[in-house]
Amino acid sequence: MAYYDQVAEAAAFLEGRLGGLRAKIGIVLGSGLGAAADAVTDAVIVPYAEIPHFPRSTVEGHAGRIVAGALAGVPVAVMQGRVHFYEGYTPLEVTFPMRVLGALGLRAVVLTNAAGGIGAGYRVGQLVALADHINWMGWNPLTGPNEPRFGYRPGAGLRFFDMTEAYSKRLRALAAEAAKEEGFALEEGVYLATPGPNYETPAEIRAFRTLGATLVGMSTVPETLAARHMGIEVLGISCVTNLAAGLGATHLNHEEVHETGRQVENRLAGLLKRLAPKIAAQMGTES
Ligand code: HPA
Repeated sequence: MAYYDQVAEAAAFLEGRLGGLRAKIGIVLGSGLGAAADAVTDAVIVPYAEIPHFPRSTVEGHAGRIVAGALAGVPVAVMQGRVHFYEGYTPLEVTFPMRVLGALGLRAVVLTNAAGGIGAGYRVGQLVALADHINWMGWNPLTGPNEPRFGYRPGAGLRFFDMTEAYSKRLRALAAEAAKEEGFALEEGVYLATPGPNYETPAEIRAFRTLGATLVGMSTVPETLAARHMGIEVLGISCVTNLAAGLGATHLNHEEVHETGRQVENRLAGLLKRLAPKIAAQMGTES
């Protein structure tokens, strides 16, 4: 079955399960950052394993389910857990869930991730909004024939599309406002994505800093590319789970990354609860 038809089948299945919930906002929760899903009320939970053609997450700390319902009264679809290239998934599989969100008619997505901090002054546990990214994965989920039917939003689905504002300025402004109300400052950074699965060498981190990156991770960029191809607005938020290799006193491990995520996930949940109504209000006046 063609990829586009698989996406359509998965979306139709989800529409049936979600029973009329018209989510406009999608939220993807990264490693150890799943708590925001618990704040969803009247939740319908759909494990990825039940959705036709949907890839399943194999990473510890990724639950692998969709939690759809209301976040602070706003209809949302939360993806608790994502799949990564380093797990062995193809670029099309990695972006399949994002395509399904597009087919469901979502207008904005919030992509969260755990990241290593490169920027001077970053602290472990800090949340940073993405202002831009660098695709260092060595691949692109849009390689191959263009599928114009993925242009679910006006003017989208193009072969060559603009990435000047990959991460929406107005969503970043709303996120900064929400963070302020929650009592913290949300800095902005540039996220560089590697294919993983290893953490970087100190020489790589020095190189990435020279390139202009302030955050490094193994996800998000493919999803942003698929979302922008579909005309979906993107907000990216990194949790600095560790200082990048060579910048801290210790060596890196997944447990530390996961543990920091656990410490920050409630703050992230608070931010997303503040933010959802602001995004909904902004979009409410648009078709
Ligand atoms: N590098 C890459 N990915 C990561 C890191 C890191 O230091 N921390 C969390 N995800």
